[in-house]
Amino acid sequence: MSLNDREKEQLKALIDAGQPLPPRYKAVLFAQPHEAELIWPGKTAEVTNVVLPFQSIEQIDEPRAETSGQVADLFALDAQTGRQSSGWTNKLIWGDNKLVLASLKNGPLRREIEAAGGLKLVYIDPPFDVGADFSFDVEIGADETLTKEASVIEDIAYRDTWGRGVDSYLAMIFERLQLIHGLLSPDGSIMVHCDWHVNLFIRQVLDEIFGKENFRNEIYWYYYNKMPDTRKGVFPRSTDTIFWYVKDKNSPYYFEPLTEKREKTVRQLVRKKVGGRMINARDEAGNVLYSDRDERVVDNVWRLSMLQPADKTENLHYATQKPEHLLERVITACSQSGDLVADFFCGSGTTLAVAEKLGRKWIGCDLGRFAIHTSRKRLIGVQRELRAEAAPYRSFEILNLGKYERQFFVGIDPTLPEEQRRAISVQKEEHYLTLILNAYKAERTFQTPPFHGRKGNALVLVGPIDAPVTQAQVSDAIDGARKLRVSRVDLLGFEFEMGIVPHAQDQARAKGVNLALRYIPKDVFDRRAIERGQVVFYDVAYVEIYPAVKGRMVTVKLKDFGVYYRQDDVDTLTSDMKNGASKVTVDGGQVVKVSKDKSGIVNREVLTKSWSDWIDYWAVDFDFENRREIVRLTEADGTERDVWTGGYIFENEWQSFRTRRDRSLEMTSGPHEYARKGRYKVAVKVIDIFGNDTTKVMEVNV
Ligand SMILES: C[S@@+](CC[C@H](N)C(=O)[O-])C[C@H]1O[C@@H](n2cnc3c(N)ncnc32)[C@H](O)[C@@H]1O
Repeated sequence: MSLNDREKEQLKALIDAGQPLPPRYKAVLFAQPHEAELIWPGKTAEVTNVVLPFQSIEQIDEPRAETSGQVADLFALDAQTGRQSSGWTNKLIWGDNKLVLASLKNGPLRREIEAAGGLKLVYIDPPFDVGADFSFDVEIGADETLTKEASVIEDIAYRDTWGRGVDSYLAMIFERLQLIHGLLSPDGSIMVHCDWHVNLFIRQVLDEIFGKENFRNEIYWYYYNKMPDTRKGVFPRSTDTIFWYVKDKNSPYYFEPLTEKREKTVRQLVRKKVGGRMINARDEAGNVLYSDRDERVVDNVWRLSMLQPADKTENLHYATQKPEHLLERVITACSQSGDLVADFFCGSGTTLAVAEKLGRKWIGCDLGRFAIHTSRKRLIGVQRELRAEAAPYRSFEILNLGKYERQFFVGIDPTLPEEQRRAISVQKEEHYLTLILNAYKAERTFQTPPFHGRKGNALVLVGPIDAPVTQAQVSDAIDGARKLRVSRVDLLGFEFEMGIVPHAQDQARAKGVNLALRYIPKDVFDRRAIERGQVVFYDVAYVEIYPAVKGRMVTVKLKDFGVYYRQDDVDTLTSDMKNGASKVTVDGGQVVKVSKDKSGIVNREVLTKSWSDWIDYWAVDFDFENRREIVRLTEADGTERDVWTGGYIFENEWQSFRTRRDRSLEMTSGPHEYARKGRYKVAVKVIDIFGNDTTKVMEVNV
């Protein structure tokens, strides 16, 4: 090292003072790396290794009419219901893929993945299109559309990714790719989809994680049908890049060469190999031979159309949705029937839908509530399509990290023994309450138990981090308010016991208390979201159902649905609006179209004409509470145990939903016949046009 004494002193002083060292020392202080390497501030090889238990919240399996031979080879079916009763269940996971990947890689689900043959193919299409990924169009009635703004958590995830420009993007993708590498089967492949913004960096990072030698192809997707636009002063950009790497090129990884149709048949010389050389084949008279070919081998330039806005067959209005024929190539080339395929940035579920159609098993993950809902509807649609063709399909479940993710966010390690966790929760309680009250813009108070805070003239009670708010807690709050002679109570919770609304409010009203029950959004765990005052607490919606019983047959009718949402401040919106413009927004519990005419007069038209306009999807479980929701906890010493969360898995036995093609919604379910007489719990799950869900349970006696 060629440093003189003065330089050494200077460096020591800087280190002691915790100051950064001048870049010019880099070359002298460090051994020269053998490889070119991409460096960014804060680069680290450390990855998250937390294991959080997955909660299965919903099971979806369109019933099959009969057991076909093909199905019997794949998994067993319940003879009575025609539903899958064993074998791999596909997984749609709602959560940040960092925690999801770490929990899959290091937790008990890993064994299930290995038992399914290991993860053979990962395709990811991480966000790179600045700003487009987190907002989406919501359709109301026949022809109005509202662009729903990103929820704060989605928006923040986006800003985390791009907040410090490409550095933070690289930190995000580097960690995810390392986790994926660890989860991938030794003979697996990864395809990473990117565009000109980041492809330079992604290639470099993939080389580092997967090894240069495991690079297979740089595929150019040429979407020739994009509307050309030269106003930007550049050639229109019509390609994306997909990098293909294998985990180990010396393993028997799968590759199937593909062919495509030619536009025109060509006449080609027939060639043959003689003595190791390729020569022209000839007939007995010595004439060269020709053959007509209408196919060609697919090379690394894939000329495939992109989705068009007017397309009604595939386009789901998800801004970054990719076309299915692109994924068909990816999945066919790099996986075989029955293989497990995953997409950890699944968006509208294109990879999952194609995987299902091609007979692959799948795992999908996305952070966005709306992405999960779009994928849910799309995959039910695929199950229905396959059923109509009498082709086999698998059931899928929707999972999340639920309360464990929340505990993790406030610093309670869910793998610690119960007692220790309880002790930590007590220590953290004040921190938790302050966090929620701050986000709610309420002040902390200590003189009014059981209430934790005050907002204006309302007392505020914060429900627990790890359990639903119960009817008993609601009653205590009402009694507490009466004793304190307070007439307004706001009760905040992450979850509420089902069916609590509107009875809780009725009970409160009868005692002279005005009660609001509000959901605490996940966004509260983001400090910056709170600082910006962007966290929105939505009121708990309610649903009214009527189960009609005839002998052992039951049908369920939707009677009412109530919701209260607020998005823009209409006054600010209209003052910023130009004359002649209009915007659709949510105000005072209704979707409204606000427009300004040429002379600046504001007009407000309510678009949600009926309560059913709020509903996008509803489903019925005719025998709720027959499947407990069990999570597998991994203790600090690595042992595992199964614990009942206190909840039940919702099995979608019947559902109706709106699609782009068909905006209608059935209001009465199909009939369900119970095998035996008895009392059953019927559960109805309603998902509104913003992807928020509400469940109602009723008992029937058949
Ligand atoms: C470009 S889109 C994927 C579109 C998808 N290929 C399709 O065909 O619909 C990227 C997706 O990544 C999701 N996403 C971004 N950050 C994420 C994270 N940390 N964890 C999980 N999903 C994330 C976004 O919600 C978005 O849906």
